[in-house]
Amino acid sequence: MSDFNKIVEKLISRREFITSSTFLGLNSFVFSSGALLSTACSETVGRDYVNFKPIASNTSDSISLAEGFNWNLLVSWGDPLWSSEKKFNEETRGSETTQRKSFGDNNDGMALFSKDGHNILAVNNEYTDLSTMFGNNSSNKPETKDDVFKAMAAHGISIIEIRLEKGKWVVVKDSKFNRRIFPDTLIDITGPARGHDLLITKSDPNGTSSLGTWNNCGNGRTPWGTYLTCEENFNGYFSSSDKNFQIPPEMKRYGIKAKDWGYKWATVDDRFDISKNPNEVNKAGYIVEIDPLKPHSKPRKLTALGRFKHENAELVISKNGEVVVYMGDDAKGEFLYRYVSNGKYSNGDRADLLENGKMYAARFNENNTGEWLELSTKTTGMSSQAEICVFTRQAASLVGATTMDRPEWVSSSPVTSEVCCCLTNNKNRGKKPNSGGDATPINGPNPRKGNNYGQIVRWIPDNQDHASNKFKWDLFVLVGNPKVHSDLRAGSKNINKENIFNSPDGLCFDSNGFLWIQTDGRYSNRGDYEGMGNNQMLLGNPQTGEIKRFMVGPRECEVTGITWSEDKRTLFVGIQHPGERGNSHFPGGRYSLPRSSVITIQKNDGSIIG
Ligand code: FEO
Ligand code: CA
Ligand code: CA
Repeated sequence: MSDFNKIVEKLISRREFITSSTFLGLNSFVFSSGALLSTACSETVGRDYVNFKPIASNTSDSISLAEGFNWNLLVSWGDPLWSSEKKFNEETRGSETTQRKSFGDNNDGMALFSKDGHNILAVNNEYTDLSTMFGNNSSNKPETKDDVFKAMAAHGISIIEIRLEKGKWVVVKDSKFNRRIFPDTLIDITGPARGHDLLITKSDPNGTSSLGTWNNCGNGRTPWGTYLTCEENFNGYFSSSDKNFQIPPEMKRYGIKAKDWGYKWATVDDRFDISKNPNEVNKAGYIVEIDPLKPHSKPRKLTALGRFKHENAELVISKNGEVVVYMGDDAKGEFLYRYVSNGKYSNGDRADLLENGKMYAARFNENNTGEWLELSTKTTGMSSQAEICVFTRQAASLVGATTMDRPEWVSSSPVTSEVCCCLTNNKNRGKKPNSGGDATPINGPNPRKGNNYGQIVRWIPDNQDHASNKFKWDLFVLVGNPKVHSDLRAGSKNINKENIFNSPDGLCFDSNGFLWIQTDGRYSNRGDYEGMGNNQMLLGNPQTGEIKRFMVGPRECEVTGITWSEDKRTLFVGIQHPGERGNSHFPGGRYSLPRSSVITIQKNDGSIIG
């Protein structure tokens, strides 16, 4: 066994969960960070929310919450945002026209912006659940062009004003802030790839704009008040009308195939036909910046932050003021990235901070250190920074970054400098290379072959400065099932028979430095997943490693998306695709159609919850 494997074994040992105080014996780090953490996490006066009694897993078709908390429904797929529109019709399930004026489907990442007495919630509508949306078609799929346009209009972003009425949050219909952004909304392209040949298409001969954004998964926010929305599985919407079209390797790397995932967008818009418009694929897979308080502003695609299956965007400011963005690429064996701006942030001055900077991919070393490898023409041999920003996966492969078990959300503690990333699962680990041919051997942060449960990796930048190129890492948790396994699949010591879950995905540190974990896993409650129940949300204590189940979602949902009211007395949580296999009636109850929704959670005594 190599030294590294010994360290990993110790790290993930069920007998010895590694805590901050034993973190690799790095006394200088532990001392300062531990001190910060003890004020952050051990002192719970005024933070009673963390003292809840954990709840049991279950498979009921409702929201289950820890005692002392309550929830309300805020908004669901198809709810009109303007009073001119009728309420959602469960028979027809809407049309393109109604959908364009309503809350989109499959809500995911979100952020609340509060200014001058207005509360504006920006929410991603990641995709459409075809079997729910078209359950009234005999095929359960889009059958006509109108069907395709309807589903398209349910994608994008919903920006809605909300307000508190008698203690309950409601949507403000007709607010001047209400806005939908669609897969055909005009967007400016910014950064190194703007105007590059790779982005020149029939619809945009200058390569400087793109139509729309879709498959918007997780999110981020900037200190200057804008929303970041992250394009993830953009590939699933492209197809080829020419059966003989040879898919070039650079498309294969991004999972683009001759067939789409059932959306049929190429049947209504040639942009999605790769044999007719091959460069269109290069205009998707980015992070888009939106100003939610300026309803007429044009969104901006940020090519400087790279092109891959973006999960979320965790933006922090370095010690010297650089803007640092941590980003995961959610695909098997893909990489973890960091962007560091060339310029510095000072209040009000954002200039081009998300346009000019350096991209890096992470390498995790076998001694629990790690480094950020710059993606430049010099390190990759690629011809320009524009090319690196379009073919970012290829650039990261060229520098030898570490292949990861599907990096999902990244979050950084506002109290300490630690950063966590959910590695949701990877059935190919140790078995198959990634789509670029990079081997995926078992390695430190990805220690299990055919990993079906996932883990959360944590790192601290050297000097606790997010612009440092080096870091130390450990695993906050190796998720598993001690009910059915006694080897590594049982998980780390902070997993027990009471708090089991699988596939951590959404992740967010709250303002007190506690870690909220949301799952997008298998909900069979059988076999390897016995005892885990429906997808759920848990709270982790980074200092002690303790993880407690706080909420369980309805059947066949994913729990994803989290944000808070300005006063931290309301927590907003997303319930995505309840009943994706036809077995839920959330939120309407018996006989009603399952609909993705945002819920609000409050403490019964009205005190803070994050
Ligand atoms: Fe949209 Fe990787 O989750
Ligand atoms: Ca996700
Ligand atoms: Ca997911």
